[in-house]
Amino acid sequence: MKKRKKNLAVLVSGGGSNMASILESIDRGEINGEVKVVISSNAAAYALTRAKERNIPAYVCALCDFESRDARDREILRLLQAYEADYVLLAGYLGIVSPFILEAYPYRLINIHPALLPKFGGKGFHGIHVHEAVLAAQEKESGATVHYVDNGIDCGAIIAQGRVPVLENDTPASLQARVLEEVEHKLFPQVVGWLCDDKVRVENGKVVVDGHDAAR
Ligand code: GRF
Repeated sequence: MKKRKKNLAVLVSGGGSNMASILESIDRGEINGEVKVVISSNAAAYALTRAKERNIPAYVCALCDFESRDARDREILRLLQAYEADYVLLAGYLGIVSPFILEAYPYRLINIHPALLPKFGGKGFHGIHVHEAVLAAQEKESGATVHYVDNGIDCGAIIAQGRVPVLENDTPASLQARVLEEVEHKLFPQVVGWLCDDKVRVENGKVVVDGHDAAR
């Protein structure tokens, strides 16, 4: 029997190309889920336009419009509950999620990071800075990581990673584009598909994906 479609909430701050890749994967019938709500920390995010084009309810929860991060995150939690989110996908979301949201959604918040964590993660490692650091460290490969969100920055349990080579003449921008197109836009929808099919479990702090070995 086909299981109920999962309700997805997507948190964004920028272009929303990862969100778009998830929506396209849903269109192709690869994900047993539906994006019910998009929440942006940035009123100017192009991700909001993408959501509106598809008639997906979209909200701005910018820090500057609230008294505190707590107040902002209480509003985010209210929206997540109102839309009955099963999973909360951080797709280029630049905010830090308050502990009370994590407590309300244990192992339900998922982030994508454009590097092979645990390397090049944590405070300051966002956007182009990640790729600058990878090049400065003369890494031979880079990629992206999809992981659960916990109370730290970029350090929750890893669900899956994808890799690309670093090329000799790479600039931060060219590496960023390769990671985004060749890894992120495939890996994130794939993991969301697994989640919506209830294939992902955490056993003793380790992530297990049914039907996929450790090399996934
Ligand atoms: C991606 O590189 C993602 O890994 C990072 O922020 C970027 C967002 O891009 N967290 P987009 O908004 O999905 O286009």
